[in-house]
Amino acid sequence: MSKNIIPHSYQISKTDRIASNKHNSFLLWFTGLSGSGKSTIANVVEQKLFQKGIKTYTLDGDNIRKGINKDLSFSPEDRTENIRRIAEIANLMIDGGLVVLAAFVSPYKKDRENIKSIVKDVNFVEIFVNTSVEECERRDVKGLYKKARAGEIKNMTGVSAPYEAPEHPDIEIKTENESVELAADRIVDYITPKLSKQ
Ligand code: ADX
Repeated sequence: MSKNIIPHSYQISKTDRIASNKHNSFLLWFTGLSGSGKSTIANVVEQKLFQKGIKTYTLDGDNIRKGINKDLSFSPEDRTENIRRIAEIANLMIDGGLVVLAAFVSPYKKDRENIKSIVKDVNFVEIFVNTSVEECERRDVKGLYKKARAGEIKNMTGVSAPYEAPEHPDIEIKTENESVELAADRIVDYITPKLSKQ
């Protein structure tokens, strides 16, 4: 398919964009169960970065699964494709000079490994939002756990589909012990050197 695709060489490079923005671009990937707090934390991190003048964009289920990935289900194959497309989109955004925040369940280790190979290791920061299924189910913000227990939703991560926890995440957040504000500060502190590293 791609054999006759010959890339055009554009005058404005990633290096130009990084120099203009005065910060590096990379991907902050939030993984964890539905209702674990990924989007909530990502949202606060993005506000803190925005206040520092960092150019950001957040990808999550709302803007991705309702748009470009609306053809995908929650089967293992479709989740793999969901994550692959998101990683490719994030890769373009990294090339565009942005700090990308992405909040997706991404339950399979191999899919998260694939993100790393798409965006490159150095551009990938893995943040494990580690909230127990019991707590997510207690919160049940979207009412999905209740539906899953009633058999109305199939392949619900943590109930009827697996979640493979990261073994060596760059950052682990235990939302049952740490406030959103503190977690967001910890993430910002972690990435601050990365923003300016040559
Ligand atoms: S992923 O597994 O492919 O990474 P993604 O993050 O895009 O999942 O979407 C997960 C969101 O879709 C959840 O936060 C939840 O709101 C909703 N959802 C609907 N059905 C399911 C399901 N079967 N398993 C997990 N999440 C579901």
